[in-house]
Amino acid sequence: MSSTVLVGVQWGDEGKGKIIDVLTEKSDLVVRFQGGNNAGHTVEIGNDKFVLHVVPSGIFRPKAKCIVGNGVVVDPIVLMEEIKKLQARNIEFEGRLEISTRCHLILKYHSLMDGLKEQQSNPERKIGTTKRGIGPAYADKASRRGIRALEMLDTGRFEKRFKEEAAFYNTIFAGCNCELVNVDEEWIKLLEAAKFLTPYIKDTVLTINKASKENKSILFEGAQGMLLDVDYGTYPFVTSSNTTSGGACTGSGLSPKYIDNIVGVMKAYCTRVGEGPFPTELMGEEGERLRRLGREYGATTGRPRRCGWFDAVSARYSCMLNGVDTLAITKLDVLDQYDSLKVCVAYKVNGEMVTDMPSDTEDIAKSIPVYETYQGWHSSTTSATCFEELPDEAQKYLRKIAELVGADIGIISVGPNRSQTFKT
Ligand code: GDP
Ligand code: IMO
Ligand code: MG
Repeated sequence: MSSTVLVGVQWGDEGKGKIIDVLTEKSDLVVRFQGGNNAGHTVEIGNDKFVLHVVPSGIFRPKAKCIVGNGVVVDPIVLMEEIKKLQARNIEFEGRLEISTRCHLILKYHSLMDGLKEQQSNPERKIGTTKRGIGPAYADKASRRGIRALEMLDTGRFEKRFKEEAAFYNTIFAGCNCELVNVDEEWIKLLEAAKFLTPYIKDTVLTINKASKENKSILFEGAQGMLLDVDYGTYPFVTSSNTTSGGACTGSGLSPKYIDNIVGVMKAYCTRVGEGPFPTELMGEEGERLRRLGREYGATTGRPRRCGWFDAVSARYSCMLNGVDTLAITKLDVLDQYDSLKVCVAYKVNGEMVTDMPSDTEDIAKSIPVYETYQGWHSSTTSATCFEELPDEAQKYLRKIAELVGADIGIISVGPNRSQTFKT
C-alpha cells in the first residue's frame, strides 16, 4: 500500500476531482490538505454529476474515508450545506468524514474582506479571487488571530471568539463605509453549523498517521494548481496556500518520509480563471473555440475560463517542483477537432530565450511564447480504452508533452465520465 499525493500542474481545474475519483477505487483514505471552497472538483459517474468544494472527491467510494486536513480553511456554513446536499443524493457520511480540529475557519468577515480588497485594489493588482474569504482566512491564521475548528466544540468559547473577531472587523468595515457583519444573524447560522459538524471534528493527524503505520492506501487531494501556489506561482496572482506536493505534509501532519508517489494532473492545453499572466492565452475567436469545446466555465464561480495552448515551460517547472512521478493528462478529447496544435517550448523575455519559468511575474507577463506545431488527429478519442487505440498523432502529441515536462504518462482522460479514463 502507498501514500500518493495528487496535485494540479497548471492553474487549477485540470480535472483533479475526476482523477481522484478514479484512483480512490483502491484507497482507504482521501485527504484534502489545502485551499477551501475556492475549489470546485467535478466528478461524473454515469448520468450523475457532482461538484465538490471541500468534501474530498473520494466520497463516492464507500470504502474510502475522507479527511479534511489541518491545512484546509473551512467555511462551516458552506461545508454543512455541501454535506447536506450530498446526503440528499444518498451519499453516506456516517463514519466516513473527519475534519481536522486544527482547520482554520472562514467566517463572514473573511468573505466581506475578500470582496473589499478586490474592490479597492488598483485595477492592475486585482487578483480575481473567488471571493470565498480564502486570503483573509489564511492571513488570520498567519497573523495568529484565526479561529480553529476545535473551538466549535465548545459553543461558549466559539461564541466569544467569533463575536470578538466580528467586532474587530466591523470597526474596519465601518471605517470605510462598507457592509458590516450582522453578528447576531451570523451567529445563529454558525451555531447550527457548529452543532452539525461537531461529530466530524477529530484530531486527523492521528487518523492519518495510524493509517500510514497500518500500510493503508492514502491519497492526498490537492486543490488549485502549482501556478497558483503562494510561494511558487505567479505571485501576487495566486491563492493563499501551498498547492504544491510539499503542502500535503504540512497540511495533513504526515511526514514526507511516508510519501511514495506524486501524480501531476494536467490538461492537454491550458486554462486559467481570474487575473494574472498567461503567456499562451488565446484571445478572441480562437480562445472562444477552445472554451466552447472544453466547456471551460468555472465549477465554483461559473466564470468563463481563459484558454490557451499547452505551456511546457510552466508545466516542466511545475513537475520539477512537485517531483511528479506520474502524469495524468486530461481533456485530450477537447483537441479532437483541431488541424494543428501548438505547444510552447520556451519564452522570449526582453529579447532572450528562456526555458525556465521566470520568478518575476512581470517577466512572465512580458513573455512571448515560442511554439512548436504538431499535427491534429481529426477523430474522436472519447471512446478510447488504451493508449494504442488513440490516433497516431494523438499518441505523438502526448509523448511529446510528457517528454517536454520530464515525467511519465500514467493516466489519460478522454471525457468527463469516470469510465472515460485509462492507464497507460
Ligand atoms: P478540478 O478542479 O481540477 O477538479 O477540475 P474541474 O472539475 O474544476 O474542471 C474540470 C472539468 O473538466 C470538469 O467539468 C470535468 O467534468 C471535465 N473533465 C475532466 N476530465 C475531462 C476530460 O478528459 N474530457 C472532458 N471533455 N472533460 C473533462
Ligand atoms: P480547483 O481546486 C482555478 C484562483 C482564482 C483567483 C486566484 C485566487 O477547482 O482547481 P482565491 O479565491 O483562492 O483567493 O483566488 O486563484 N482559483 C482557482 N482557479 N481552480 C481553482 O480551484 C481555484 N481556486 C482559486 O480564480 O485567480
Ligand atoms: Mg475546479
